[in-house]
Amino acid sequence: MRSLPPPATIGILGGGQLARMMVVEARRIGYRTIVLDPGGADAPAAQISDDFVEAALDDGAAARRLAERCDVVTLDTEHIPADVLYELEDACAVRPGGRILALIQDRWEQRTFVARHDVPQPVHALVTSPETLASASAKTGFPCVLKTTRSGYDGKGQARAQDPEELARGWEDLGQPTAVLEEFVDFEREISVLLARGRDGECRFFPVAENVHVDHILHTTRVPARIDSAIESEARSLGSRVAAGLGYHGVMAIELFVTADGRLLLNEIAPRPHNSAHFTLGGCATSQFEQHLRAVCGQPLGDPSPLGACVMLNLLGDLWSEREPDWEAVFRHPLARLHLYGKVEPRPGRKMGHVLVVARDARRAEDEAESVARHLGVASPSTTHRPVTGPTPDPAFG
Ligand SMILES: Nc1ncnc2c1ncn2[C@@H]1O[C@H](COP(=O)(O)OP(=O)(O)OP(=O)(O)O)[C@@H](O)[C@H]1O
Ligand SMILES: [Mg+2]
Repeated sequence: MRSLPPPATIGILGGGQLARMMVVEARRIGYRTIVLDPGGADAPAAQISDDFVEAALDDGAAARRLAERCDVVTLDTEHIPADVLYELEDACAVRPGGRILALIQDRWEQRTFVARHDVPQPVHALVTSPETLASASAKTGFPCVLKTTRSGYDGKGQARAQDPEELARGWEDLGQPTAVLEEFVDFEREISVLLARGRDGECRFFPVAENVHVDHILHTTRVPARIDSAIESEARSLGSRVAAGLGYHGVMAIELFVTADGRLLLNEIAPRPHNSAHFTLGGCATSQFEQHLRAVCGQPLGDPSPLGACVMLNLLGDLWSEREPDWEAVFRHPLARLHLYGKVEPRPGRKMGHVLVVARDARRAEDEAESVARHLGVASPSTTHRPVTGPTPDPAFG
């Protein structure tokens, strides 16, 4: 793997918040960045990158023009067509490349890969027609969750079913040629393993994060996660097995369910920096974004140690329904840090920013986050409960 120290040029496909925070860190370190996004200059990352290309994420010719000006290309989203990535691989390094993306983009391929590496996961079955629903649900039982094979995010393209009738309706609503049916896991909590795998295959782990989703969208992340050290080390070992199995270089996450009897089941793999690791930017010695840049540029990895107890609250577009939220209320909280992504249009459910609280102990972080949430009108992080899954038949990327 070639070493690419600053001021190498890093191309980023997709210009959302993950790319934006990569650019923030790249600027500090002295890397140059070029971002490709259909939103052009308005895209969160393009607002602050050295340059940008305005093009659709599946525009192979535009991606090629970007790659020819870069030393390495990386991603803000896993929804870049794998074929586009294959086409770039002789122009510059592409991390992750088309092979990894092709595997991750297909939920069934991903589940098959996970099984091959002996990582435990929910019982699942492939559905290819209405006729195969019965045999699939005989395997998973009820309740179960039907997920489109491709293009899901923030729970879009999923339907929970209590019985065969609801499952048949969910299949129709999703309207896709194939889907994966999974047992509904009555988990005790959700956690994510956030790691970087570097040039010589060395893995460095951020603290395991505990996540609460509301309506399938990440609402709160807490660190340290409320799990014992045996579960934490098992979770890490699953993460490194997945990263090594993929031959991955960069920061990635695995999302896990923890069951009441202490089992860990892999929900999904994210081959990129992850929303549940936003706490690392301000809450760890090295952020996930800097760590990702180091890893994809073949540099030594940084120190992922936590600087305190963290609570991160996502800020969704719903908060803007009447007026701009009261940011002064956040600034009045000394332990809270505001992050806004510069998105022009605050749609409901759209991730617009987050607030991070870092404190000496978990109680203090919790109290401060609770107070910020109250002042902003965000649902309280302590009373949010587990997601209620209904049909969300909109798997389109946007
Ligand atoms: N089999 C399951 N059992 C119980 N809950 C589930 C199951 N699958 C998904 N969920 C719930 O829905 C959330 C979103 O699911 P998943 O991660 O599969 O969706 P996604 O659309 O890929 O989301 P994202 O990419 O934004 O994480 C999970 O974090 C979990 O809370
Ligand atoms: Mg997920």
